[in-house]
Amino acid sequence: MKTAITEMFGIEHPIIQGGMHFVGLAELASAVSNAGGLGIITGLTQGTPEKLANEIARCREMTDKPFGVNMTFLPSVRPPDYPGLFKVIVESGVSAVETAGNNPSEWLPMLKEAGIKVIHKCTSVRHALKAQRIGCDAVSVDGFECGGHPGEDDVTNFILLPRAAEELEIPFVSSGGMANGRSLVASLAMGADGMNMGTRFIATQEAPVHENVKQALVEASELDTRLIMRGLRNTERVLNNAGVERLIQKEQDLGTDLKFEDILPEVAGIYPRVMQEGDVDAGAWSCGMVAGLIHDVPTVQELMDRIMSEAEALINERLVGFQSA
Ligand SMILES: Cc1cc2nc3c(=O)[nH]c(=O)nc-3n(C[C@H](O)[C@H](O)[C@H](O)COP(=O)(O)O)c2cc1C
Repeated sequence: MKTAITEMFGIEHPIIQGGMHFVGLAELASAVSNAGGLGIITGLTQGTPEKLANEIARCREMTDKPFGVNMTFLPSVRPPDYPGLFKVIVESGVSAVETAGNNPSEWLPMLKEAGIKVIHKCTSVRHALKAQRIGCDAVSVDGFECGGHPGEDDVTNFILLPRAAEELEIPFVSSGGMANGRSLVASLAMGADGMNMGTRFIATQEAPVHENVKQALVEASELDTRLIMRGLRNTERVLNNAGVERLIQKEQDLGTDLKFEDILPEVAGIYPRVMQEGDVDAGAWSCGMVAGLIHDVPTVQELMDRIMSEAEALINERLVGFQSA
């Protein structure tokens, strides 16, 4: 399939793997790229420029296809070495960067000069327009369904994507709730040129996370995510578990007095415990409502092939069949 996104990133299928803390390592990114999509290494999971350079080199050993790096800007007590990390990205010759969180304008000149395509993840039309204005090449439009940080507007993709299509001139991909051929065809119908998936890619053979995490996603339904940290204006969609229930109880008990420090035990240092040790009840970890559409743990190649053949059948059989003679 050929779209503005496949052309921009030099990929075969219009499917991107979003950055995911402690999941977006070289194993997953290279598997997605080898299967024809755009794999993304999560920059902040590596933390230091040296480790990121090493992870990019590992990925390059596993694929000769294009892949990218996610750089997330979030408020933090000890900010990472962003200048050092971006220097590594530029020097390593990756072809794409996915930015998320704050405005990436500070880093755009150096990325552009290096010929790196920038896709910025946004949860609203106004932020997407801002990304277009400052010179991002594409945007990833993340609806309220998404795993991770959906923003504070609560607009689902059935509205957000066609709204983005009304306003944007640069290409965009849908993100949040995407899992299968139906998701891809619907995204294309709503004006996107491809789709971004997070949660769905965790439940694959190559995702370098503990089996318990993959099983938790297969077992979860669309009713099993919760929104946390709304009162702190840092809303996150996570898989419900014992740690999350403790956190929500604190939110209810403390109300507007709640501070980030109150929930530290449920949010700090959780990712390695969940993703590496398999302690899925340790605390809050991002997960989309799309868990309800995840029923198996295929290889990335099987997943991508299945999505593309479902999408082609939907277009060529179901949709074409609706045309009146
Ligand atoms: C476990 C997990 C960790 C994530 N970590 C990040 C991250 O570090 N940076 C980021 O920009 N997005 C992160 N995301 C969001 C994804 O890149 C993507 O936008 C989101 O998962 C899309 O929604 P979906 O899960 O419904 O596919 C994460 C998502 C998940 C599920």
